[in-house]
Amino acid sequence: MNPTKNRITSTRLNKFISESGICSRRKAEEMILAKRVTVNNKIITQLFFKVNPAKDKVFLDGERIAPKRHLYFLLNKPMGVVTTTNDEKNRKTVIDLIKTNEKIFPIGRLDFNTTGVLLLTNDGEFSNLLTHPRNKVPREYEVRLDRHLTDEDIDKLQTGIFIEGKRGRFEKISFTNRNSKKFVNVVASEGRNHFVKNMFSALSYTVVSLNRVSFAGFKADVPLGSFRALSKFEISGVINKYGR
Ligand code: URA
Repeated sequence: MNPTKNRITSTRLNKFISESGICSRRKAEEMILAKRVTVNNKIITQLFFKVNPAKDKVFLDGERIAPKRHLYFLLNKPMGVVTTTNDEKNRKTVIDLIKTNEKIFPIGRLDFNTTGVLLLTNDGEFSNLLTHPRNKVPREYEVRLDRHLTDEDIDKLQTGIFIEGKRGRFEKISFTNRNSKKFVNVVASEGRNHFVKNMFSALSYTVVSLNRVSFAGFKADVPLGSFRALSKFEISGVINKYGR
């Protein structure tokens, strides 16, 4: 058996209950301690008890708790759309572009005018795998700058510079247009907000346009503004690669 997979398929009982949308994890713990929860017909009172959502039958007060169906989407985000689940200014959000009645949320964020690959899901654990800094998930961007990028600045951006009090660097930098050093491709392995813009702005460049070409190896393989579901193979690929 693959131990990584096993760890991700079994989940703590209180987490399983809260993820099915019934209540918070703390409330779930109270219900477990109050002997209201059974797993495969046995009352469970251990808070650290683990269940396999695909196999185990969990009941609360005699009623079956159905495991939540997880959803995973890839969106090719267009400009002029906010990466949030709810915008206080009533602007169009990335959620408005996905046809589903389930509550989903974006994995990380892209700025209002940034285009490209954005993943969305209702699976918090999957999202954590892709956003946790320790996993150094690669993000590749096409950047258009206001002026030519110098060799000296390429060195600085790859060695590391301080932005917002913390060192940041690009893993790779290359030019995408032979005739102009304003067009660059960068690979970053961190996802701080406005990371690319802040990196360039620290060296007095302005990012004129930004497109995320890929995220965790997922490419923008649908038209701008369109989305698709991830395949089972793609989902397990992420879990096997980044799961612990
Ligand atoms: N970095 C940015 O500055 N903006 C984005 O939208 C994504 C990465």
